[in-house]
Amino acid sequence: MRRRLVAGNWKMHKTPSEALVWFQALLEKLPPTGAEPALLVPFTHLPYAAQTLKQRVAYGAQDVSAHTEGAYTGEVSARMLADLGCRYTIVGHSERRSYHGETDALVAEKAQRLLEVGIVPILCVGEPLAVRQVGGHLEYTLGQLERSLAGVSLPSPAHLVVAYEPVWAIGTGQTATPEDAEAMHRAIRGWLGERYGEAFAEEVRILYGGSIKPENAGALFRAPNVDGGLVGGASLMLEDYLRLLSALE
Ligand code: 13P
Repeated sequence: MRRRLVAGNWKMHKTPSEALVWFQALLEKLPPTGAEPALLVPFTHLPYAAQTLKQRVAYGAQDVSAHTEGAYTGEVSARMLADLGCRYTIVGHSERRSYHGETDALVAEKAQRLLEVGIVPILCVGEPLAVRQVGGHLEYTLGQLERSLAGVSLPSPAHLVVAYEPVWAIGTGQTATPEDAEAMHRAIRGWLGERYGEAFAEEVRILYGGSIKPENAGALFRAPNVDGGLVGGASLMLEDYLRLLSALE
């Protein structure tokens, strides 16, 4: 059984002090849940996450350096994140791919750095609108997945989370239908099965991301291969985040 996951990607929102207040309020209101809550926050917020969230809510960063250590001004290493107790970290988000020119090869290096220190990469893939419009989305997304995992050694299926985030659905209010999400997730699991074996693929969690809201989450989360969500905007509001968690029950 795959433990379902609601991962909030805060992107570049809230100050550390605002985050601290939010974390404390979350802990007060967090219901007992079988699903796993997680928050991917800016680097600056991580010490507060480490202090407050501890074992109850998983947390991590939104990016990591491909280097282990050294003269790389402005970069943050996987070992630094591990030291702060990060369980997950996003790699290959489409915003990093498009605004920072990150290639699949770089994403693979970053995933490998995380795995070396025991952090689970949440590996983002997904097609832009023009590709979807000509029906090339499966080929595009599976190609991205293959190249982003090239040379990456996964100790177990628990060490990988894949997030399918169609670029046209991110921050647009235009969500993939549960049928479209399920078709892609099934294809991703199929590819993982060919590459790592079926038993392995059955245990990898595949999240959907792109304009998830409490109103549409229930239908998306009912799709059999959708194991939860990577949520942007709706994860910034505590009430919405809690409603998303209960939509996974
Ligand atoms: P939104 O939920 O705001 O569309 O963002 C999705 C996303 O990019 C999560 O990583």
